[in-house]
Amino acid sequence: MGESQGTLVGVAAIFLTVAVVTLYMSNAAEADLVVGHYANSCPTVETIIADSMKNSIASDSTVAPGVLRLAFHDCFVRGCEASVLLDKANSEKTAPINVNLHGFEAIDAAKAAVEKACPGVVSCADILQYAARDAVVLTGGQSWDVFAGRRDGTESNAAEPATELPLQTMTVSQLLSVFALKNLNAAHMVALSGSHSIGVAHCSFVTDRLYPNADSSIPADLLASMKASCPTAAATTQLNLDEQTPNTFDSKYFDNIINNRGLLASDQVLLDDSLTASEVQANNGANFGTKFAQAMVVMARYQVLIDNAGEIRTNCRNTL
Ligand code: HEM
Repeated sequence: MGESQGTLVGVAAIFLTVAVVTLYMSNAAEADLVVGHYANSCPTVETIIADSMKNSIASDSTVAPGVLRLAFHDCFVRGCEASVLLDKANSEKTAPINVNLHGFEAIDAAKAAVEKACPGVVSCADILQYAARDAVVLTGGQSWDVFAGRRDGTESNAAEPATELPLQTMTVSQLLSVFALKNLNAAHMVALSGSHSIGVAHCSFVTDRLYPNADSSIPADLLASMKASCPTAAATTQLNLDEQTPNTFDSKYFDNIINNRGLLASDQVLLDDSLTASEVQANNGANFGTKFAQAMVVMARYQVLIDNAGEIRTNCRNTL
């Protein structure tokens, strides 16, 4: 072998080693999350959280979409480590994009019930992911196994949500880039957007589609009803994200989009790209439940803290 060939082989070997080590490091945290993480330390944890969520949603049905959105806003900022739950000064929940987040009391209630049975064992980050799954199931969606073993972060910074979360004004390629940074591909992104099968948006997130000039792609009857709900550009009321079945977790959200009836601009732009458009079609029906579940499992692995990193909070609003 010549000298230059030897050098090439050497360089290739270094690249391969770096690639393998990088791959290992990026998967290391994921590998340590398991289904049944608390089987010995808190065997009833999932039942306790499900019961607590059932009570919370029974007394306030808006808790279901509220908690699901919390899980998303947690994972996209610093990873799924419950930073969105912290009450510190200048924490994430004070960021403008998070101003309408809600459902925190339901997480407090679930945490209190879990602490009673198994003090100091179950992280708030895991409770949030279990509760999000339960919110989907309790509104009619398909269940999935939640991988657990996350620990709670101690930092939360008001400046970060604005740079990490997607906006409803983004183009489909901008949305894809934001999700790619969280290890989520087009199929994951479209399935996860199906969360907008439940819950509401405040008028401020849609009035740019209505005033001063209406988005010409909005069908006339939908435009009229959006304007009735948001009579001026400054309206502060809310609209259902899914006009067909606003309180049921199902695939009608995708049917809306196919018919140009997505509420947010970021819902409707999913038809603008051939890949996301074909995923919209693929989610419109019985496959949605499985596709959504798979995407939630991937999202819920993002930058988790494991082993000795972070802590297990006793109150989800405060670090130890
Ligand atoms: C694709 C990018 C996304 C954008 C641009 C987006 C944007 C929004 C906006 C503007 C609202 C209304 C907020 C308000 O009125 O304060 C909203 C609501 C909501 N989002 Fe998203 N979202 C996206 C993806 C997701 C994902 C991935 C999830 C969950 C996995 C999710 C879950 C929800 C839920 C459940 C609501 C209703 C909240 C409630 O009723 O309180 N969204 N979203």
